[in-house]
Amino acid sequence: MSGVFLVKGKTALKGEVQISGAKNAALPIMAASILCDEEVVIENVPKLLDIIVMKDILVSIGFEVSFEDNRVRVKHTSSKLNTEVPYELVRKMRASFNVLGPLAVRMGQAKVALPGGCSIGVRPVDFHIEGLRKLGFEIEVEHGFVKATRVGRVDSVKIVLPFPSVGATEHLMTTAVLMEGTFTVIENAAMEPEIEDLQNFLNAMGGKVRGAGTSRIEIEGVKRLSGGSHKIIPDRIEAGTYLIAIAATCGRGTVRGVKPDHLTALLETMRRTGATLGVGEDFVEVSMDDRPSPVDVVVNPYPGFPTDLQPQMMAYLCVGKGVSTIIENVFKTRFLHVGELRRMGANIEVSGNTAIVKGVEKLSGAPVLGTDLRATAALVIAGLMAEGQTEIHEAHHIFRGYENVLEKFAKLGANIEYVPTSEEVESDP
Ligand code: EPZ
Repeated sequence: MSGVFLVKGKTALKGEVQISGAKNAALPIMAASILCDEEVVIENVPKLLDIIVMKDILVSIGFEVSFEDNRVRVKHTSSKLNTEVPYELVRKMRASFNVLGPLAVRMGQAKVALPGGCSIGVRPVDFHIEGLRKLGFEIEVEHGFVKATRVGRVDSVKIVLPFPSVGATEHLMTTAVLMEGTFTVIENAAMEPEIEDLQNFLNAMGGKVRGAGTSRIEIEGVKRLSGGSHKIIPDRIEAGTYLIAIAATCGRGTVRGVKPDHLTALLETMRRTGATLGVGEDFVEVSMDDRPSPVDVVVNPYPGFPTDLQPQMMAYLCVGKGVSTIIENVFKTRFLHVGELRRMGANIEVSGNTAIVKGVEKLSGAPVLGTDLRATAALVIAGLMAEGQTEIHEAHHIFRGYENVLEKFAKLGANIEYVPTSEEVESDP
């Protein structure tokens, strides 16, 4: 269901918000459950559209999947698994491509639609394909599908990723883990906390993976993975979004149920803007009573400043007391939110992968368009900062990444009305 958010500004957010489980940890772990030949129980899974798409994919493959009270149960039925994943499911969520490897390593071969591009970039999967080839799979790409067939057995494999790709790292981990007799090293691996969560899941099921969280991951393939249970880590991007929203509206609040050491780059940047932060074992407090000091932000793979918080930080810096720069080194064209922020009075110039944000006194409410889940979150923040009402069209994107988002913002004092419309939901990253 598509829809419009009517956001009333200027509202200073105050209060507490409980952070949900991480979408980007749950998705690869659900894909990895394909490898397990007993029931898998995954706790603290956020109730989001993307999770439901991944559930539908597992069901289409032949698993029994239940999703209630933030708990996903994946049960392997006795029937043979379906080794093809249709385009209409991959189109809805590109992370579904990552079922190719686990399905192929388990069944001998699999066929998954090639994901398309999206609003934040072309999003190729060449690192995934090259890595699977090195693991001994024959890969055919034709008619918009990728077919992987296990043809050989390799004793040891070394894969050097050209860029620390989160998806490629996760995809290759969840394939190599079940290749008994094969020792795999992934170098220049992504180091995000979601990678460590995936390693912990795989090892809990009997895998032999080590090094997640560093740039070198070693995997000793095993014959089988059992079932078991696992609790998903908190969502650092959701937490960061609310921290920025509270500071950007000159509010005072606390995000609870987080791992602050997953947010180091953001917290350091927010301190440089003049925000006051208090950090506890599983919470972060933030307060701000003025426009932010300008800062230079360099987006990089973890532990650098996260690309998924770049649009939200840009919204905050729109009213900075000076000129800020944002260099985007992960998705170099992730700036579709710039045009929308400009409609609200922001002064932003983009040159290549750099945005130059000249702070203005204030933003003013306007009709704007959400382009992806993080850009839409940025527009909600801008709407709360702005004077007057902001109408965010295509606002449904935000439901892909933020559990109970309207309730959580309302609890912080925000006035956001959701007006559903009947248009079909567009595909998304
Ligand atoms: C994951 O996407 C996240 N999605 C993204 O979050 C996040 O923005 C991204 O990692 C970076 O942190 C999930 O985890 C489901 P990448 P992913 O592979 O894996 C290039 C959100 O908002 N690349 O790390 O697709 C790619 O084009 C989403 O929750 C290749 O060139 O990101 C990009 O420039 C948005 N070839 C860079 O690497 C490849 O084969 C990093 O992409 C793969 C990637």
